[in-house]
Amino acid sequence: MVSVLLVVGSVYGNSSSVAEECAELLRSAGHEADILSNASLNDLKVRPDSVLLVCTSTTGQGEIPDNIYPLVNELRESFPLMPDRRYGVIALGDSSYETFADAGRQVDELLQELQAKRIGEVLYIDACETADPEGTAIEWMREWMKAL
Ligand SMILES: Cc1cc2nc3c(=O)[nH]c(=O)nc-3n(C[C@H](O)[C@H](O)[C@H](O)COP(=O)(O)O)c2cc1C
Repeated sequence: MVSVLLVVGSVYGNSSSVAEECAELLRSAGHEADILSNASLNDLKVRPDSVLLVCTSTTGQGEIPDNIYPLVNELRESFPLMPDRRYGVIALGDSSYETFADAGRQVDELLQELQAKRIGEVLYIDACETADPEGTAIEWMREWMKAL
């Protein structure tokens, strides 16, 4: 059994809905899954053994959603190295924007700089390609979970 913290960045609810489906799948596989919709650095610190699954959309012109921005800011400012932390990223976006899925990309780069270890590749979900982001995420999760 692995403990997973799903860290959500969402404006209109798509990423939240994806995170909820992923959490259900994790729980049905016997893992512990908690969703953080307004995560802080302290939420991560009190769960040092949890795997992070960041599930974020991109808003504005390549911007990070307001509900995950405080965490990203705290990580950038205090820069806590976390070589023992494992994580995954699900990045929602729309490829009609030049800044496709940039928030997810930025979070991935930041976690890499903090020496966290990514499990698998980043999943990019393009609203231009699928009307079923939850289904796309679940398919990807089935493989991702094997590496937990
Ligand atoms: C006002 C607005 C700005 C957006 N800006 C971007 C962007 O810069 N890059 C991108 O890849 N997607 C962008 N998107 C697409 C969203 O990331 C995409 O619709 C996503 O599924 C929304 O997820 P959410 O409901 O969790 O916020 C934008 C959407 C809206 C409505």
